[in-house]
Amino acid sequence: MTSIMATSTQHAIFVKDIGKPLVYGERPIPEPPKGYILIKVLSTMLLPHDTYGRDQGLFIGERLPYILGTNIAGVVEKLGDDVTSFKIGDHVFGQGNPVYPTPDSAGLQEYAILDSEAAAKIPEGVEIDDAVSFPVNATTSFEALFHPENGFGFPLPFTDTSIFPRANKNIDPATQTVVIIGGGSNVGKLAIQFANIARIGRIITVASIRNKTSLLSLGATHIIDRHDTPESIAKQIHDIVQRENITHVYDCVSWEFSLALSIVSKTDASKILTLHPAKSGVALAQEQGFDKCQVQFVAGGNEFLRPLLKPFWKYLPLWVKEGKIVIPKYRVIEGFDLELIESALDDYRDGSPVLPAVVHPQARK
Ligand SMILES: NC(=O)c1ccc[n+]([C@@H]2O[C@H](COP(=O)([O-])OP(=O)(O)OC[C@H]3O[C@@H](n4cnc5c(N)ncnc54)[C@H](OP(=O)(O)O)[C@@H]3O)[C@@H](O)[C@H]2O)c1
Repeated sequence: MTSIMATSTQHAIFVKDIGKPLVYGERPIPEPPKGYILIKVLSTMLLPHDTYGRDQGLFIGERLPYILGTNIAGVVEKLGDDVTSFKIGDHVFGQGNPVYPTPDSAGLQEYAILDSEAAAKIPEGVEIDDAVSFPVNATTSFEALFHPENGFGFPLPFTDTSIFPRANKNIDPATQTVVIIGGGSNVGKLAIQFANIARIGRIITVASIRNKTSLLSLGATHIIDRHDTPESIAKQIHDIVQRENITHVYDCVSWEFSLALSIVSKTDASKILTLHPAKSGVALAQEQGFDKCQVQFVAGGNEFLRPLLKPFWKYLPLWVKEGKIVIPKYRVIEGFDLELIESALDDYRDGSPVLPAVVHPQARK
């Protein structure tokens, strides 16, 4: 291993007790294990699961004190053994690991480790804060659309088939329909854009109609107003595509699944993917007699995207650089300003529109 660092401790923000305010403190700078890189964290984005982590212990469980922040960007400081894809000084962005046994792979600290397969160099012309807005939401929606088991298994949008053989290559994406509930969420917008890159024929989304123009520009083909009644939403969708042909529904926002079930095919094999626990959806599907509908949770972690993880991280920066994926809006918190960080997490509590915050751990308040 090679190093350019002199100190061995760092500043960090901890979840010390679940449901209590975050705490400022110090901890050792981690060593990157084999296959990992150590990053000087220049930027980390706070996401809804960070709020659930602080308030309910999501991903944290008993591992207290723990650290939040899964979207991480910064400068490579050290290489673990067997890392050949990066060099010290590279500016990179990547996905930390909220279930890592220690808080080493979390962003609300000055130094963090990243799996070198779940990271990429930041393309020229892309700001570090722009890049940090992607990892979790992009990984999750990519997995949902393209992973053969954990997702829908739509044909992969890679032209370089030597990287990974094209799954479902005999399916013409233009003939496919995906319904995205919550296309106005950040994770939903990425799903629309990936579906567009993959040339899926009908990308129907349920979202606020005030976002119609922007969602159409991302590639959605139809916008159904999410504030209409559930019956009206389902009818409008079935007027576009016959119900038996709606076999792929990606619900990015719901915690109960009556809307998704009122949309999906009742006769053909179908899948509803959800970003929230699927148990109640599975029960409701059974209760309503959906024999051929699988309701499945998507866990947007690095491990779940394999074997697509490496090619995904090759293509994501290219798509960002080429403007095929639009950089979302965000705000910046300079330094470990506990009050502003707490307030950014509070914003995610009620599902209303949020301007996500990126934190600069190296800045002094
Ligand atoms: N399982 C996983 O691995 C995973 C990964 C990523 C995210 N998630 C979860 O996915 C959810 C969304 O995350 P995010 O960061 O994308 O959130 P976000 O951008 O903050 O989503 C907020 C937006 O969701 C839309 N929305 C809220 N309720 C809706 C409803 N009933 N119908 C349709 N749209 C609705 C609204 O869009 P409009 O502007 O259109 O009203 C709102 O602006 C969070 O709960 C997050 O924890 C899970």
